[in-house]
This record gives sequence, C-alpha cells and structure tokens, in this order.
Amino acid sequence: MHRQLFVTTALPYANGNFHIGHIMEYIQADIWVRYQRMRGHAVDFVCADDTHGAPIMIAAEKAGKTPQQFVADIAAGRKPYLDGFHISFDNWHSTDAPENHELARQIYRDLRDLPAAQGGSLIERKTIEQFFDPEKNMFLPDRFIKGECPKCHAKDQYGDNCENCGAVYAPTDLINPYSALSGATPELKSSEHFFFKLSDPRCVEFLEKWTQDGKLQPEVANKIKEWFTIRTNPDGSKSEGLGDWDISRDAPYFGIEIPDAPGKYFYVWLDAPIGYLASIKNLLTQRGLDYAHYMANPRLEQYHFIGKDIVTFHTLFWPAILHFSGRKTPNNVFVHGFLTVNNGEKMSKSRGTGLDPLKYLSLGMNPEWLRYYLAAKLSARNEDIDFNADDFMARVNSDLIGKFVNIASRAAGFLTKRFDGKLTTEFGAMGAVILADIRTESDAIADLYNTREFGKATREIMLLADKVNAYVDQHKPWDLAKDPANNVALHQVCSVLVNAFAVLTRYLAPILPSLAQSVQRFIGLPMDQWDVDTDVVAIQPYQHLMARVTPEQLDALFGVIEVVAPVEPAKAAPKNAAKPAAPAVAVDPNAPGGEALAPTIGIDDFVKIDLRIAAILNCEAVDGSTKLLRLTLDAGEKDEAGQPRSRNVFSGIASAYKPEELVGKLTVLVANLAPRKMKFGVSEGMVLAASHGDEKASPGIYILNPWPGAHPGMRIH
Ligand code: MSP
Ligand code: ZN
Repeated sequence: MHRQLFVTTALPYANGNFHIGHIMEYIQADIWVRYQRMRGHAVDFVCADDTHGAPIMIAAEKAGKTPQQFVADIAAGRKPYLDGFHISFDNWHSTDAPENHELARQIYRDLRDLPAAQGGSLIERKTIEQFFDPEKNMFLPDRFIKGECPKCHAKDQYGDNCENCGAVYAPTDLINPYSALSGATPELKSSEHFFFKLSDPRCVEFLEKWTQDGKLQPEVANKIKEWFTIRTNPDGSKSEGLGDWDISRDAPYFGIEIPDAPGKYFYVWLDAPIGYLASIKNLLTQRGLDYAHYMANPRLEQYHFIGKDIVTFHTLFWPAILHFSGRKTPNNVFVHGFLTVNNGEKMSKSRGTGLDPLKYLSLGMNPEWLRYYLAAKLSARNEDIDFNADDFMARVNSDLIGKFVNIASRAAGFLTKRFDGKLTTEFGAMGAVILADIRTESDAIADLYNTREFGKATREIMLLADKVNAYVDQHKPWDLAKDPANNVALHQVCSVLVNAFAVLTRYLAPILPSLAQSVQRFIGLPMDQWDVDTDVVAIQPYQHLMARVTPEQLDALFGVIEVVAPVEPAKAAPKNAAKPAAPAVAVDPNAPGGEALAPTIGIDDFVKIDLRIAAILNCEAVDGSTKLLRLTLDAGEKDEAGQPRSRNVFSGIASAYKPEELVGKLTVLVANLAPRKMKFGVSEGMVLAASHGDEKASPGIYILNPWPGAHPGMRIH
C-alpha cells in the first residue's frame, strides 16, 4: 500500500543565511524523504521562510529596508544552498504569504468561536503590564530590554535571564533597565493581550494523550512529561502544569493582524507552524489540487523534522491549536539534536569561523561527502552530533570511497575492454552467495531508513562492502586478467562486482542521489527505486564517480590556509591557463578545434561556474617561468573595508602575449574557482583563453576580450 506523506523541516528565521545546523536538518529530512520516494510512496516535502516577529522587523529597520524587502532578499539567497546540497523540497514558501495570513486568521477564529457545547472559546483576553520604549513608541520584547542582574549585579544582561550567573527573572526585576533599541529608560504600560488557554482541562487532557501515546521519541516524551506537572514562570517562580500562552503583540509588529482587534498582531510563533500548511496549500494550488480535499484524506501522514530547541512549540501549542480548531494533527514530530563543529569549540580568528556551507561548496567540496558523513552520525535519537574534520576525512576516504566507490572501478575496466561491456548472469558459487547475502539485507536496511537510523544503515552497508572487498581480494581480477585462460572466471568475478555495486548504490541512493544518477548512466538500471533484484546486463565505460577529500580542502574550509590543492604548474603542463589539475585533452584531428566535445551538462552544472568581466590592472612576467604571466585583475570586488579588491591570477599565456599588450584590457575571469597555491604564489581564479587541441599542428593561444560596454564585475550568463 503506498503511503501519502506530507513532510516538513522547521521554517528558518528569515534574518540570515543558512548555517550548517540548518543544512544538517534538511539533509536528515531529505534522506528520509528520498528513501520514501524510492519505495514508491507519494511525498510532499515543503518548507518556507519564517518571516515575522520583532527581531526581523528591527533588523530590517537597521538595514534600511521594509520587512517585506528584507525577507525577500533573504529568500533570494536560499537556492544555492538547497540545490548545492541536493535538498529535494517540492516547495519553498513564506509565512508572510496570503495563504498564511488567511489560514492563521481562520484557525484563530475557529479557536475563539468554539461553541459552548464543546466547552466554549479557548481564546482569552487579559491585560498585562509590559515595558514600553517611549522613544521608539513600542512595547519591548524581553530580548530588547537590558540592565543589571538583580542577583549578581552583572551589567548589560538581557531581560529574561543573566548570562553571568544564569538567574532567570522578569524584565521588571532588572536594576536600571534600558531599551537596547534606543537606550531610553522603559516605562511600564498596560496592554490587552490575547491568550490561548493551554491550561484549560480540555487541552491538558488532549495533550497528555497526544504526547504520551508512544509516537514521540522516548527521551522527548519524558521531557514533555515534566511540563505537565511543573513549569518555570518568567520571574523564576514555579507553578503547576501548563500555563496559558500569550499569542498577541502590539503594533508596531511585523506579523499578521488579529481578526477584530486592530493594532494587535499574532505572536510570530502562532503563525510560524501554520506556515507548514500555507506552503503545502501553495504547492497544491500550483498543481491545480484542492487543499481541503488533500488534508481530508484519512491516509495522509504528516511529519515535522525539528531541532531540540523548539519541541514545546511543536508538541504542545501546535497539536493543541490544530486539534481544537478541528484540524488534523501531525502523525509525529521527529526531533534531532544540535550539530557542533570540531568539538563545539568557539572558533578563534586564526582557526577560522566554523563550517560555512557556501564556502564548503565554493571550495569544490562534494556535497555528498557531507551528506554521507552526517548520515553516518545520525540516529533516531535526540542527541547532539559533532562535525570533526579528521573523522570526516576518514569516513569519506576510507569508507565511502575506499570501500564502496572503488568496487566499481576495480571491475568496470575489464568488462569494457574484454567483454564489450556485457555482464554474465553466471556468478559462480561464491559470487552467487555474496550477491544473495547483499540482497537479503534489503528489508533490514529499508527498516533502518524508515526509522531514521541512518548511522546504523551506513554501518550495515559498509559491512556488506567489506564482504565484497574480501571477495575481490580472494579472486584477484587483476591476476585473472593476466591469462586469457581465466576469461570465464574474470567475467564472473567482474559481473558479481558490478551487480554488488548496483545493489549497494541503491542502498546508499537516499544519501547519495547525485552519485546514484551517475551510476544509473553507468549500469543502465534506474537507481531511484528500491529494486535490488534485477541483474545488470551491460555497462557503459566507467567514468570517475567521486574524488577523495584532501587535508588542504579541510584547512581551507576552516580558514587555516587560503588554498586548495597545492599543485606545481610546471609538472601539470598547463596549456592555455593556470589550470594544472584539468583533465588531459584527448587530441582528435577530426573534432572541432582538434578536441572532442565534452559530455553534455545541464544548465545546473553551467551556472555553478561564475564567469566575470575583469579588467587587467597589471601584468608582468614571472621570474623562473617561461609559460606564466602574473595578472592583477579588477573584477569589481570590494574588501571588508569597502576598498577595491584586486586578484592575483597566473595564466599560461606568456608565449602569446607581452605583458604590456594586456594591461588595461578587459577579459573573462572564472571567479569562483577555488584558489590554488602554485610555485610562484596563490592564483585566485583563472582567465579564459582559446587554443587548438593539437598545439603542434595549430599553435597559438587567444585570450578572450569582451565587446565594448561590458565592465568589471559583470557576470557572463
Ligand atoms: N523559525 C523557527 C522555527 C519555526 S518552525 C514553525 C526557528 N528557526 S531557526 O532558524 O532558528 O532554526 C531552524 C531549525 O534549525 C530548527 O529546527 C533548529 O533546531 C535547527 N537548528 C538551529 N541550529 C542548529 C544546529 N546547530 N544543529 C542542528 N539544528 C539546528 O527556530
Ligand atoms: Zn547575574
């Protein structure tokens, strides 16, 4: 029976770019979603920006933008992260979208207007006293009130707790409070607020069942249990059980206006999870489907992936709001711990600044290394995990590549060269046993994916890879290949290896979707289905599937050094520019320019290359090199201080140009190429030049020069 799944990750605040913790959450959910899709289940996987609230309103004001413009700018930066790490959301929406305004207001009305027969309204108005900033003319959120700690007298502490002694108190307890926005002394002012009556017996009874019926992770359910008996108030005192929830804020506030209450807005956490519904509704509208009909499907399963810091919102407020407004509650909430980097050390300047996801990608580091590494560390439990650089390198290079990827490369060459790429289904006794062993694990591994035990799944899969490698060592295809008399055995062994590799690839496909696609082209079987029994018939010539991670890449990632692969340009014989690691060119006299066309790429591959117009500010010969020129380029960039920043680029064009010919000219720069350390210094990019595949037959190197009117910094699309 195929399942119908509606899956979300937490909606990130739209006040900054993603950090590695967000990416971890998306990778966890994406692996689960891809696994479900491989099983043929229908999955709608959505997210959105969480746009409302005082901090975003204030940040927008500081940036001189409207909140709408501010969050739109953040939203515009999401795609490179999501595409870069292969996160397969079906929709990315916004909590400020019309669907969310409508849904939030309707859900509120449903709670407010509950008939007496059902126990009456769950919304209550109460007048409370709050600090007000007389200069900014607004009520201050706790975080924007500072003052002296009433307990330890540390200065400049926040309104909710002291970072020095850990005391918890109310903002009104602070000594000499001041507004962090204006510096003014806040005044106490009363205002009417709207509360959701979480303490109502109906809510308590419902939530005790909903949170303790066994669906939640045991450690999460246990923590929640405590909240039913005792609660800590803002002033540090303790009360019995669940407290009512303040869901309103006064203008000015960036949010959704409360129906029939001008100047009052929903607190951001009321409308944020409703954003899950707004996003799925928007997706359904795009598909021409009806939201009410979709949600009414009794077989629809709804799951939320979240971090441990937002459990209260998702296991108390959210299910209660949904249930009492007559809506479907989530089937489950999957809670993960926090990701720390290199032992959670706060990174000093010299050691770098944590793990920046975009920097990771821009260094040419493979996103699937990170997906694999995180998968290997993740479990179904709410526990923290640490990204450790040495551990990362070991798991990627020894396990992922050493144990798994290498299986294919060990067999493919022989099959292509000796057997025209055709496989046999005669596996020999040992081979048949190995394949059967691997295939029978299918259900166990499937179950580990379904229960989010990804670490266990990767360990199982690597144990299977160990078995295959032991089989390789026993049968030594490279020895068999020496004597044509062993042809039948060689054919069998290599066919077993490729079939084993196909099954292992399927097992890893939820984690490594892009590699799985390459393997699909290589072996001609769909890799996005959980079918482990079909034999491979034939293969295409093997193409390199995945490189190893280098210590230099990790050093560059963590800011220890500024370079990637240290390569000596002289040895790598650069042809037309400083690109020592580029693949050797196969000269083909019949092909255009003496060189066969490269394999087809999609637009997605092309847009990864950022080409910019650059002005050649200076150009000089390089002492000790007959091939290279040193170019100083202006690509329209500025440094942190706002000063123009130039780049140093080496190019192997000394045979074709005198330095003075180039100074003042415009050319084309590959601007996002990882910096490379060369014998003569670091090259920060590459300039483009044309040359014939056969240098001897047709010598000459021609640097590119844009049409007049282009200016430094413009991107070439
Ligand atoms: N906007 C709220 C969520 C609203 S959901 C209706 C929010 N945003 S957040 O940007 O602060 O966090 C988004 C998600 O990232 C949360 O699930 C949070 O737990 C998770 N993480 C934030 N830092 C993290 C780590 N260091 N590690 C793993 N996940 C982390 O909360
Ligand atoms: Zn204190």
